[in-house]
Amino acid sequence: MKSETNHRDFVKEETLDPGDWTALRKLGNTMLNDMIDLLQTIREQPVWRKPPERVKNHFKKELPQLPMQLEEVYDEFKENILPYYLGNIHPRYWSWVMGTGSAQAMLAEMLAAGLNCNVGIGDQAPMYVDQQVIEWCKQIMHFPRESSGALVSSASIANLNALIVARNSVNDTIRRSGINEQKKMLIYASTEAHSCIQKAAEIIGIGTEGVRKVNVNDKYEMDIVHLQELIAKDKREGNVPFCVVANVGTVNTGAIDPLDKIFWICCKENLWMHVDGAFGALLKQLPEYKKQLGYLEFADSIAFDLHKWMSIPYEAGVVLVQDADVHRKTFALQPDYISNNERGIGAGPELTSNFGFELSRNFKALKVWMSLKEHGIEKFARLIRQNITQSKYLAMLIEQDSLLELMAPVSTNIVCFRFNPRKNHLDLNMLNKEILMRLQESGIAAPSYTRLKGNYCLRVANVNHRTELKDFDVLVNEVIKIGNQVIMEEEAKREPVNTA
Ligand SMILES: Cc1ncc(COP(=O)(O)O)c(C=O)c1O
Repeated sequence: MKSETNHRDFVKEETLDPGDWTALRKLGNTMLNDMIDLLQTIREQPVWRKPPERVKNHFKKELPQLPMQLEEVYDEFKENILPYYLGNIHPRYWSWVMGTGSAQAMLAEMLAAGLNCNVGIGDQAPMYVDQQVIEWCKQIMHFPRESSGALVSSASIANLNALIVARNSVNDTIRRSGINEQKKMLIYASTEAHSCIQKAAEIIGIGTEGVRKVNVNDKYEMDIVHLQELIAKDKREGNVPFCVVANVGTVNTGAIDPLDKIFWICCKENLWMHVDGAFGALLKQLPEYKKQLGYLEFADSIAFDLHKWMSIPYEAGVVLVQDADVHRKTFALQPDYISNNERGIGAGPELTSNFGFELSRNFKALKVWMSLKEHGIEKFARLIRQNITQSKYLAMLIEQDSLLELMAPVSTNIVCFRFNPRKNHLDLNMLNKEILMRLQESGIAAPSYTRLKGNYCLRVANVNHRTELKDFDVLVNEVIKIGNQVIMEEEAKREPVNTA
C-alpha cells in the first residue's frame, strides 16, 4: 500500500524572524536611542576606558547552544562592550589616523544592513549607487570619467588592489604564468611609506627586497635625486623597476611627496605611478593644496579612505585606476554562474569583481552616498581645512611653550611633539612614553606615538570633526602637568631615604 505519509508532518519549519515584531520594534528603538544618546553626550565621556579582566573573561565563553532573549544579549552589550569602545568617536581622540564617523551615517549603515544586499552583481539599485559613488570619487580626485574604481574595505586593500594592477601591467603573461619567469621586479617607495605597501609587495610576489626604500628630506618628503639614482642602478643591473608609490600624507607626519617630479620620472622611465593618499588625497578639495596635489589626477592609480577624513563609518576605502581596461584585465573572470544575463536579476551593471578580488560585498556605498547628499562635498572640504587650522594652532601652542618641542614640520594635519624641559639627565623617550600612557589611561585625550629619528614622539593625527580648538588647550596643559608630575616622582625616587 502506498504510504500516506505527508512530508509536512516531518518538518517543523523555523525562521530567524522574531516571534514578536512589536517587541523587536520597541527594543530596536531603545538601541537606536541609546546610540544617539552616546553620540550626543560623547564629550562628557572619557576618551577611552581600559576593558577590565571581567570583560575580557566575558568573551571566553563556550559556543552558545541554546537561545537567549535578545533583551538579555543587549544588556550584555551595554555592560561589556558599549563602555569599552576605542574612542575614535570622541573629540579628543587623535590616535593613528582614525575617522570619527557620524550619527547620520550610522543610520545609513542600519538601512544597508536591513536590505542586506550583496553589491557584487545584479540589476538592483545598490549596484547603481555603488557606481554613482565611484563616479563621485573620480570627480573628487579629478580622475577622468573613463577611469575605473572600486569601493573596498580600507586603504590597505586599495593599495594592494592598485599594486596588483601595476604588476600585471608589466606583462600580459603574469596572470597565466605568475612572476616566476620575470626578472626582479621593483617598487620604489619612501622610507616613510605605510607598512601596508611592504605587505602588499610581499603578497603579490615582489617581496620585501623588491621594495626599494627611497630617502626623505627634512620635511619627510621623497628625495627625488635618490629615487632617480636607485632606478638607474637597478636598470643597469638588469632588474625591472615597474612602480613608484608616492605618498600624499605620510602616516608619520602627513608629508606630501613631490607629485609633479615623480610623475615626470615615471613618464621618462615608463613606470606606474601609484599614490597612497589614505587620508591626504582628500586635500584635493582645498584650493590651497592645488599646486602640491596638481599631478594627482595623472597618477596611474590612487588609494584612499573615506573612513578617515570623510568620517564615513568603518569600512570604506577606494581605489581608482586611470586605465579601466588594465584594471579589468587584472581581475575579470566570469564563469557561467556569475555572468551577466540580458534580462532578469543578473542583467545589472558590470560585476564589481571585475575591478577587485572580492565577489560578495556589502552596501558600503549607501553611507557614502547619503553623507555626500546630506552635507555636500564643500562641507567635507571645510571640515578638512578646519582640522588643518586646528593642527597649526596646536603647533603654535607647542612652539610657544619652552617645555614642549615640535618634532616635525606640520604640513597637513599631523603634529609630532614631545615634552622636553631641556634638562640633561632626563630620558626623554621614557618620559614621553609615560606621559602618553597616563594621558590615555586618564581618558582625557588620546594622541598616539611614533619615532622620528629615533626620538619617541606624541603624535596627533587630526581627522576629527568633533575636535574644537579648546581640546588642544586641554591636551597641552595635560601633557605639561603629567610631564612635571613624572619628573617629580622620578626625582623623589632618587632622593636618599632619611633613615635617621
Ligand atoms: C598613509 C597611509 N596609508 C595606508 C594606511 C592604511 O589604511 P587602512 O587602515 O584604511 O588600511 C594608512 C592608515 O593610517 C595610512 O596613513
